[in-house]
Amino acid sequence: MSYDCIALNKRGKIGIITLQRPEALNALNHQMIKELEQVFIELEADENVRAVIITGEKNFAAGADINEMLEFNPEQARAFSFRHCFARIEAFPKPVLAAISGFALGGGMELALVCDWRVADNTARLGLPEINLGIFPGAGGTLRLPRLVGAARAKEMIFSGRPIHAEKALEYGLINQLADDALEEAVQTAEMLASKPPIALKLAKQCINQAFDIDGIKAIEFESIAWASCFATQDQREGMKAFLEKRKPEFTGT
Ligand code: CAA
Repeated sequence: MSYDCIALNKRGKIGIITLQRPEALNALNHQMIKELEQVFIELEADENVRAVIITGEKNFAAGADINEMLEFNPEQARAFSFRHCFARIEAFPKPVLAAISGFALGGGMELALVCDWRVADNTARLGLPEINLGIFPGAGGTLRLPRLVGAARAKEMIFSGRPIHAEKALEYGLINQLADDALEEAVQTAEMLASKPPIALKLAKQCINQAFDIDGIKAIEFESIAWASCFATQDQREGMKAFLEKRKPEFTGT
């Protein structure tokens, strides 16, 4: 499959998606969102890919494309919403990392928020400046940001529209890692994750994602069922045998 606004490359077991509209700081337009949805369908079916990184050429992404949004009426705005694409990425059954250099603003930062793991370098500026456009974050930011950093800090970022540096983002818990080279660090982390048992990882991700949306008793029940189902996998035997035999496990995803 070929793409116009993104590129897909593979490094070993890692799929690397690069947002590629550098002339518009990778602003997310309708076409790019369509392609992102498509590439995640492609990567889900690819058994050789065990983790995915989203990054951007020069910058991560400076938000939704303002040229496309200017004349929207409310119906058109709702149809443009990124929620279906972002929900697919959030529910993707393999780990997804964001490697952030430069601007990650508005819908761009919200894209990073649906990833499981965020790595940034010192050039990164993360923020939700939508308020300065007469709107507010509409791609999950009002839900996912407070979950991550707490309501007070989320309100500070959303009400002021002021971006923050990577160091502050690390202090807020908005990014997991601050590195000299965001993409290289993300590749190393993705390789580490690719060596883990894929079924157990997928189930752990489902449990964590669901935990915020269902009540606690149901969440624990769901965890118990998902956890028990690991005992139907070869990887559970392999992981435990390898521990007892004092060797490194070789997980096959079965
Ligand atoms: N949409 C469309 N084009 C954009 C864009 C965006 N979000 N962000 C940047 N661009 C374009 C600029 O218009 C400019 O194009 P031209 O060269 O044709 O003029 C080009 O990218 C380079 O940008 P600048 O010249 O502005 O670069 P800069 O270094 O001076 O400033 C910046 C960088 C501070 C990120 C500035 O571009 C900016 O503020 N961009 C908008 C950020 C923003 O408001 N994002 C939120 C969008 S709304 C949203 O995301 C809604 C949602 O919740 C889903």
